[in-house]
Amino acid sequence: MKKNAVLGVNDAILQRHSVRSFTPEAVSSEDIAALIEAARLAPSSLNSQPWRFKVVQDKDILKRFGEKDISRTQSWLAEAGAIIVCCADISGYVKDSQASAFFYRENDLITGDTMDGIDEYVERESSADAYAKFGASAMNVGISASFMMLRAVELGLGTCWVGMYDEQKVKELVGIDSELRVVGLFAVGHPAEVPVQEHSRKEISEILLP
Ligand SMILES: Cc1cc2nc3c(=O)[nH]c(=O)nc-3n(C[C@H](O)[C@H](O)[C@H](O)COP(=O)(O)O)c2cc1C
Repeated sequence: MKKNAVLGVNDAILQRHSVRSFTPEAVSSEDIAALIEAARLAPSSLNSQPWRFKVVQDKDILKRFGEKDISRTQSWLAEAGAIIVCCADISGYVKDSQASAFFYRENDLITGDTMDGIDEYVERESSADAYAKFGASAMNVGISASFMMLRAVELGLGTCWVGMYDEQKVKELVGIDSELRVVGLFAVGHPAEVPVQEHSRKEISEILLP
């Protein structure tokens, strides 16, 4: 697919479809760097930036991703140019949220009731159970992945977010620290076919609350 150098954001949104069929062309290191940079610039709660990414391009490992025990035989994953394993650093999420709150208070950047609200939020997050912490940090990781998806369209790359995988096996396969949680697999490559179908979506009336 050609690079879409002057694509507007709305065009990128309209042109993005999940791509599950890739050419053998490698994804360049420049393109990988551009995707990670897009993710890096995403917003996050209290600027905690809990996302961590492991870029996998080794063909043998990509092949393993397509196998039954890892992804329930989503064999097309083997054809991806890269799989970016998107992880959440949950303890980092808590620590960095606390650090931001401390910084805001020390520097009088946020004051009064709003600052008290932030302190309460951070306290709640810090003492939440592991499941709640995972949900909160995974939300931030998902937002960063959306930034990568749209940047990929501009680069002429196809992507698909994959949520069906065995987390423990993925961690062992690519060597991810036990402290981190895997939030999703971000498959990326040069599309063999660009899906042209309309987006199948609920109507506005179904999602817009009165
Ligand atoms: C959280 C999440 C998990 C997903 N998991 C998978 C998956 O395991 N395998 C897959 O082929 N697609 C997966 N998808 C892609 C969706 O099927 C796809 O986004 C949806 O059908 C809408 O199609 P579109 O992306 O082409 O607009 C996932 C998407 C999201 C956001």
